[in-house]
Amino acid sequence: MSVLSLRPPLVNAAGPHSVTRHDLLEIAQSASGAVVTKSMTHCPREGNPEPRWAPYAMDGFGSINAMGLNNLGYRDYAELVAELSHYGKPVIASLSYAPCDHDLPMADHYLVMARAMAEAGADALEVNLSTPNLTGVPIANDPTQIRSILTPLLDDVEVPVAVKLPPYNNDLPLFADVASLLVELGVDAVATMNSEPNAMDIDLETRQKVIRPREGYGGLGGPAILPIALAEVHRFARYFRSQGANIAVWGCGGVDHPEDAIKHFLAGASTVQIGTVLAWEGPNAFRMLWEGIDDWLAIHGHQSVDEIIGQVQDAPP
Ligand code: DHB
Repeated sequence: MSVLSLRPPLVNAAGPHSVTRHDLLEIAQSASGAVVTKSMTHCPREGNPEPRWAPYAMDGFGSINAMGLNNLGYRDYAELVAELSHYGKPVIASLSYAPCDHDLPMADHYLVMARAMAEAGADALEVNLSTPNLTGVPIANDPTQIRSILTPLLDDVEVPVAVKLPPYNNDLPLFADVASLLVELGVDAVATMNSEPNAMDIDLETRQKVIRPREGYGGLGGPAILPIALAEVHRFARYFRSQGANIAVWGCGGVDHPEDAIKHFLAGASTVQIGTVLAWEGPNAFRMLWEGIDDWLAIHGHQSVDEIIGQVQDAPP
């Protein structure tokens, strides 16, 4: 099975339920089409102080988080990737960056981790350039940094490389710069989008912010971000098609019900990732969602999800 056309085309987003060996083995044994690790860093990290994750329910399962890249460090994930590769589904290693004790330049952090994951047997890499919870400004907002990280990495590793992106919202010039750069560099996939950054909620009883790190600002996930994610997926898919670029779009954001995933496919996603709903419901979410997606496809006369990918139509005049 190609990691770029997963079956089922439904996987976990890097982050929720993908930090520990226990989490990852549960995903390996679930109905997920692949296992995606938590975004790892060179050195292990505890992450931000708690509370750092809070529910934000809006007619479904939502969340605000500023986890702060809690993860085991890439050496432990290399061992886990090797173990997970025996479960008969692709393993995707998510790579991120945080400063740590040694003085490697940022691009070298990514390169060292990428090599280690490819050697450990990862089927693909997801290079996370969009973590909003450290400095607040994702690497993916700076095309110069994107180039400096991806160029050596793409030269070095043989496995497919996806890039995890933040929402570009209404910054149309930045979207255009990044999209054309990714075509030029020849990435294999984009995962769009990361959580919507700089969201805040307030508990009315206590009048306190619901999370403690980053002055209460965290990434928003869940139903509130579905329309934003659909637009991000759509414009990347449309741009890549217009350039004749064979770059897959992995849709992420706001998938709570099967119909939400169907919308991602119609917008142009070939695989859909789930984050917040997985944190709330656990790995059974994969089976529940996939059964609903399969039913929808059958009811609408489709043999395969391939028949609906990118098939959204313009609204009538
Ligand atoms: C974290 C959050 C993200 O959205 C991400 O892409 C990576 C890390 C975090 O806070 O751990």
